[in-house]
Parts: sequence; structure tokens; C-alpha cells
Amino acid sequence: MHTKILGTGGYLPSKVRTNADLERMVETSDQWIMERTGISERRVAAPGETTATMGAIAARAALESSGLAPQDIDAVLVATTSSSCAYPSTACEIARELGIANAAAMDLAAACAGFSYAYATAHAMIVAGQARHVLIVGVDICSRICNPHDRTTIILFGDGAGACVLAASDEPGTLAVRLSSDPTCGDLLRLPNPARDEPPSEDNYLLMRGSEVFKHAVVILSRLVDETLAAGGLAPSELDFLVPHQANLRIISATARRLGLDMSQVIVTIGKQGNTSSASVPLALDEGVRSGRIKRGMNILLESFGGGLTWGSALIRF
Ligand code: UT7
Repeated sequence: MHTKILGTGGYLPSKVRTNADLERMVETSDQWIMERTGISERRVAAPGETTATMGAIAARAALESSGLAPQDIDAVLVATTSSSCAYPSTACEIARELGIANAAAMDLAAACAGFSYAYATAHAMIVAGQARHVLIVGVDICSRICNPHDRTTIILFGDGAGACVLAASDEPGTLAVRLSSDPTCGDLLRLPNPARDEPPSEDNYLLMRGSEVFKHAVVILSRLVDETLAAGGLAPSELDFLVPHQANLRIISATARRLGLDMSQVIVTIGKQGNTSSASVPLALDEGVRSGRIKRGMNILLESFGGGLTWGSALIRF
């Protein structure tokens, strides 16, 4: 039994937050943000938007492009760490919105690596015969979990949703998946849940020791891409596209260099989207597919890295 992506979708809120907007919020500059991150703007969810409303739009687009009907979906998996409710899960809310009945539905939390974890789980469910069609969504509203006065995080993150439909297939589509973590580095990137027995506190925002996370990301992602290609039996020269987590353009470039890829073979969305956490990889994949750059039969490497620390990848024949 193999698995293959049938369709992809994405959604970005309409409100744009530029570097000039950030210059009015915190002590920073467009030049600093561009040089250190490659980000010029990011999107911000409107007050009424939630991970469920945004995820549902991306999920509907993925379902439409897959050619399947809501009743064909056996499971809905949502990677997020910014949902409005612990339950009903964002997965249940998206299933309700799309009219998907009787499907397994759950949220997964693996920070920015969440989509890789959801993809690997969907792949395993299909290979184990527990599902034939799985709707996978990555969605985060990072603007609400970042302290608006913290220039080290507010400049990086954005809001968005991406999705894909993974299906049972006779021919190989998913060639290898890898998941891993380093729980000893949990303090480098934390998002505490508000304590219910204490007054609201500024400490409940996302906290990141950026330059340390950066160094770990470069080393871990280099190892991860090598291991994933080896597990899938492909040489770097056989890769058509890298679809990386969009955390920092310098991290993306380092991974591309490691693989010997030209930047024209890398889907880069960070400039206009910032780091959308769980949504960044499926949004980049959707961008690659809809722009016509990623075509059927191409070898694609997806990778992501985030708090926990956690990381994961998928090597795909699209
Ligand atoms: O997606 C989950 C995983 N997350 C990541 O992978 C993010 C990884 N980290 C990063 O992308 C980078 O570390 C950052 C973009 C967050 C920071 O870039 P950096 O080159 O590592 O800068 P730094 O933290 O070493 O700070 C350099 C200087 C400091 O000033 P001093 O101490 O040298 O005087 C900071 O205070 O830049 C200062 N700084 C800023 N200056 C202007 C920090 N943030 C800002 C800012 N604007 N927004």
C-alpha cells in the first residue's frame, strides 16, 4: 500500500502587516528584518477568524482540487497550536463546516513541525488500512500568540492555513517520512498555556531564544534532509524541489546549499507570509502546485522544525 497527494489548498487572511507597520509597533527597521529574516510582510487574521474558519477554507480548496467529495474523507488531521478551543477540536469544526461525517478527527500539536507530524500520521493510517483518504490541515494564528511588544518574535510570525488530501495509491507517492525530537531543548521555544488559577500574564506569549534555535535548526535540518533522502533511496541530484518550513530565509538557504540545490528549486513564501508555523509547509506546497512549478512525477522534499524541539520530513513523488 502506498500513499499519494491528490490535492492541495491554502488560505491567507486579507490584512497585511508590513515591516513599516512593525516599525510603528516596536524598535526595529525594515532593513534589519529583511537582512536577518527575508520577510517583508505577513498576514494577520481578522477578529472573527479562527483556526477553524481559516483551516476550513484551505481544506475546502484541497478537497476540490482532489476531486473527492466530503463523504470520501475517512479522517481529518489538523496540526495547530493556536486553536480557540481544546474541544471541539479544530479538526471536528472543519469536518462540520465541510459536511464530513463519520470521519476520525483530531488535532496534533508539534509546533512548527506539526504538518510533518500530521502527514506522517495520515500516511501511517492509510498504510495500516485504517483510512483511504485523509484530509490534512496545518493552520496557525501566530499574531495572537506573539507579544506585540516583543520585537524578537512579532516580526517573524504570520497567520495562515494550508491543506492537502492524502490517499491510498497503487504507485509510490510518499517515499520516506521521518519524525524526531530533542526534548532537552524545550526551553528554547515555549508557548505556555494560560494558567487558569492566575491572572492573565504577559508570560503566556511565545518565548524564543532565536539565535540558539537558529543554530539548532541549521544543524538538525542538514542531518534530516540527508537521512530522508537515504531512507527514500534518492540522491540529492534526483530532487526537483525543496518545500521547506519558512522560518528564516537564511535557514532555508543553508538547507538548499546542503542539498546542492539552486534557490530556483526551492519554494520560498516567507517574504510575503512570514513564519506561519504549522501552515508554512502546506501553504508553500500549494503555492508550488498552483503556480505550476511543482508537477506530477516530480521528487519533492518537505521538511519542518519547531518548538519541542520537534522536526519532521516527507520525501514525495508528487
Ligand atoms: O519556526 C520555528 C523555529 N524558529 C526559528 O527557526 C527561528 C530561528 N531564529 C531566527 O530566525 C533568528 O535567530 C532571529 C531572526 C529570530 C534573530 O536573528 P539573529 O541574527 O539570530 O539575531 P540575534 O537574536 O542574535 O540578535 C542580534 C541583535 C541583538 O542586538 P545586540 O545584542 O547585538 O545589540 C538583538 O537585540 O539584533 C537585536 N534585535 C533586533 N534589532 C532590530 C533582535 N530583534 C530585533 C529586531 N529589530 N526585530
